[in-house]
Amino acid sequence: MSDGAVPTLPHGPKGMGGTPIALRNDCPQPGGSSFLEMWGQLRPIGRHRASGGYRRFAWTDADAECRAWFEAQARGRGLAYEVDRNGNQWAWLGDPARGDAVVTGSHLDSVPDGGAFDGPLGVVSAFAALDELLRRDVRFAKPLGIVNFGDEEGARFGLACVGSRLTAGALTVEQAHRLTDADGITLPQAMEAAGYDPGSLGADPGRLDRIGAFVELHVEQGRALDLSGDRVGIASAIWPHGRWRFDFRGEANHAGTTRLADRRDPMPAYAETVLAARREAELAGAVATFGKIAVEPNGVNAIPSLVRGWLDSRATDQERLDAVVGGVERAAREYAAAHGVDLNVERESFTPVVEFDHALRDELARILGSDTDLKVPVLGTGAGHDAGILSGRVPTAMLFVRNPTGVSHSPAEFATEDDCVAGVLALADVLEGLACT
Ligand code: GLV
Ligand code: MN
Ligand code: MN
Repeated sequence: MSDGAVPTLPHGPKGMGGTPIALRNDCPQPGGSSFLEMWGQLRPIGRHRASGGYRRFAWTDADAECRAWFEAQARGRGLAYEVDRNGNQWAWLGDPARGDAVVTGSHLDSVPDGGAFDGPLGVVSAFAALDELLRRDVRFAKPLGIVNFGDEEGARFGLACVGSRLTAGALTVEQAHRLTDADGITLPQAMEAAGYDPGSLGADPGRLDRIGAFVELHVEQGRALDLSGDRVGIASAIWPHGRWRFDFRGEANHAGTTRLADRRDPMPAYAETVLAARREAELAGAVATFGKIAVEPNGVNAIPSLVRGWLDSRATDQERLDAVVGGVERAAREYAAAHGVDLNVERESFTPVVEFDHALRDELARILGSDTDLKVPVLGTGAGHDAGILSGRVPTAMLFVRNPTGVSHSPAEFATEDDCVAGVLALADVLEGLACT
């Protein structure tokens, strides 16, 4: 961009909303350097001192700080900023009412003691890619949007992708109202405490009608790119996956005085179920994890009255997933009966297989493959994403950035600075290819 020039959006056939948009960005930085600056700003937010991991849970103070950061980034660039009825944040260049906007972004919340990259990499890269496009002095033919979807990880209320599910109508208002955290605080109460109006929650088809294409950049949560020696990849599909809650109910009693034969102890039934999950997953070539457990009364010297465990299972296809979950449930019922405890199993969430839009995926491959030596492998993933939720409603694609250890949902999650910058430049190329003349 020439010095002092104010980038404007050209008037398209539908007028792009009338007035050209003037960006407050007198001296745009290359995407790479603005990335590092933004990364440094987010780094301390919600970081737990002892574990070094992030605890950015929906509608908490850490989440509010992340949201304030997003708003400042949007306003600082002169973008139109809005929060939708489900608490998702949007920043717009151009008038999205045209209905053909190119949108990018991800989420800023985390799992308990999560890494820095899962989510924030996509949001920071989105702003940095926009900076890179301004530096390139491109002409936008379509509106560009940047989004931060609320509560992607579901760490607080147990359901993943709450913001995008609500917007896409994949979660009803009644279901959302029933979501409760470990302290009994409901989602509407938590939203209200954070200063948001839960009265407006609900499907928002008009908002999705604005989007012509959604591209989410994400750190890879495996080692495929490391093994292939590529910095950036394109997603092909997301495995079907879900969460199931297993409640084993027995009888609390004294750990020292109750004979083994007299116990109704849910813990051994639960423990045997964990081993069954491992076995079933191995048999099906799938994955199954009991990663969260709640025990009542949770005393060292008391036999538990309740063991509640959450099963997360994922597989390449529905048949395998059904085989794993069916097998685990059958085994759990057997163990529960053997220990004289009751069992209740509830499916808390489910996302069917997602095949990303083939035409958009091929377009990304073409953009990234042409006149660069960037190779772009196409990868499937077992991780869930807002892009997967949106894919039923709008053409959607994902870019993955290499993770040299493959570790994710852990403080050890990592991507090198060079790879992050390569991701920003790839995203900028994609946005330029999709949104610019
Ligand atoms: C989200 O990251 C998930 O795959 O659970
Ligand atoms: Mn995640
Ligand atoms: Mn994520």
